[in-house]
Amino acid sequence: MDKFRPNYHFTPEQNWMNDPNGMVFFNGEYHLFYQHHPEGSTWGPMHWGHAISSDMVNFEHRPIALYPDENGTIFSGSAVVDWEDTTGFFGGKPGLVAIFTHHDTVPGTDLVRERQSLAYSVDSGRSWIKYRDNPVLESDRFVDFRDPKVFWHPDTKRWIMILASGQSVCLYHSSNLKEWTFSSEFGQGNGSHAGVWECPDLFPLPVNGDPSHTKWVMIVSVGGGPDHIEGSRTQYFIGEFDGCSFVNDNPSDTVLWLDHGRDNYAGVCWSDIPEEDGRRIFLAWMSNGKYANVTPTVGWRSAMTIPRTLSLEFLYGQVRLIQKPIQELQRIRTPILSLENTSLEEAQLFLSGLELDSFELIAEFVPVITEDFAIKVRKSDSQQTVIGYKGIENEIFVDRTLSGIIDFQEGFAGTHAVKLMTQNELIKLHIFVDRSSVEVFVNDGIAVITDLIFPEPESTGLGLHASQDGIQLQRFEIFKLS
Ligand code: FRU
Repeated sequence: MDKFRPNYHFTPEQNWMNDPNGMVFFNGEYHLFYQHHPEGSTWGPMHWGHAISSDMVNFEHRPIALYPDENGTIFSGSAVVDWEDTTGFFGGKPGLVAIFTHHDTVPGTDLVRERQSLAYSVDSGRSWIKYRDNPVLESDRFVDFRDPKVFWHPDTKRWIMILASGQSVCLYHSSNLKEWTFSSEFGQGNGSHAGVWECPDLFPLPVNGDPSHTKWVMIVSVGGGPDHIEGSRTQYFIGEFDGCSFVNDNPSDTVLWLDHGRDNYAGVCWSDIPEEDGRRIFLAWMSNGKYANVTPTVGWRSAMTIPRTLSLEFLYGQVRLIQKPIQELQRIRTPILSLENTSLEEAQLFLSGLELDSFELIAEFVPVITEDFAIKVRKSDSQQTVIGYKGIENEIFVDRTLSGIIDFQEGFAGTHAVKLMTQNELIKLHIFVDRSSVEVFVNDGIAVITDLIFPEPESTGLGLHASQDGIQLQRFEIFKLS
């Protein structure tokens, strides 16, 4: 039995997957490409795998979209709709263009070389033609020079590319996606430099939904070096972008982490979501460079996070990135339990009869400082993943110490926590559990903890625990997801 295959998270049909790539919406379809090694379940020569969805929840697997060629293997990148046919690939009509990194070595040497290339599709992403003049952009400064994310910038009426360059990002602009001009570099001395920078994204979002107050968000994944127990993780910056340079609003040493768990990496947003929809939707690889190659799945490896809608809110004196599960996930809900203003003891009575491996749980409670409160999921006599609140520390945590198989990587077992900015106020936990993951959205998405777990299929119990009596649950709801 494929005991860790998620019920509702995207996985490759077989073999290896890492970063999401080329996420673009076109003609009613959400395309998801991904870093794929089709010949093995560990990282290897990279291809772009492909899947299509009408709702970002149910995906149809498609044949491999991009194979390695004479310019190298196919590393991460993005895709856009070329609405005005600026490339001339589409005879005046709109079409899809993928912008990706060709990874190889300088001929006759073992020196790594990373150059940016194009492919295009005239049949809504079903088949892809590599541009005959690839590559279109290289660097004489950077060896690590990859993961181009491209978007149309209406104010300057040109394409912008952001890509990772060592431990910074570079910005370029173009009128036709084929010729690129350097604009600026950002990163030195800013944010976390715990490793090489990878998979950036850059986009505007209104603050508190006010279109007259827009900020730019830059997402940067940071590959953790061997000294960093956290492994690879993702940071973000808030600032201004004028079509040329990005200016960080925060002091340069501020580090804003996008997730407080260990398994959210290389995430970027879908391109070309229609204006009438208006969402900015993020998806990430739900694994960690530290152990991605050795997780205990068989025949396939890695899942994506659930897709998340991003927004900005001014909270506690700062503009912060908010993540919320996409509403489409509500379509796969089956209601199991819905309680209001109940005691922990009463809720526990309902839980003792339940067996669930894939579900959504909403818990709202007012904490009492110095008290602890915990929800145990994927539980058996010997296994449990604990999600809860620690009163003294005033933090929300996920403890995967006893979650199941943990011995494939030293340090995998552990507790990952985030401090709350409020005290003695209502806490809302919105939890997504699947066969091999938990995602905890705290207080309407101001913080998220995303963690892989590998419990036995029989570990389907649930439980509640509080360090003292008297905790009241304002809301306690469970939905089965499939
Ligand atoms: C991030 C990454 C990217 C690169 C790709 C290769 O996980 O290292 O920087 O393009 O994976 O698979």
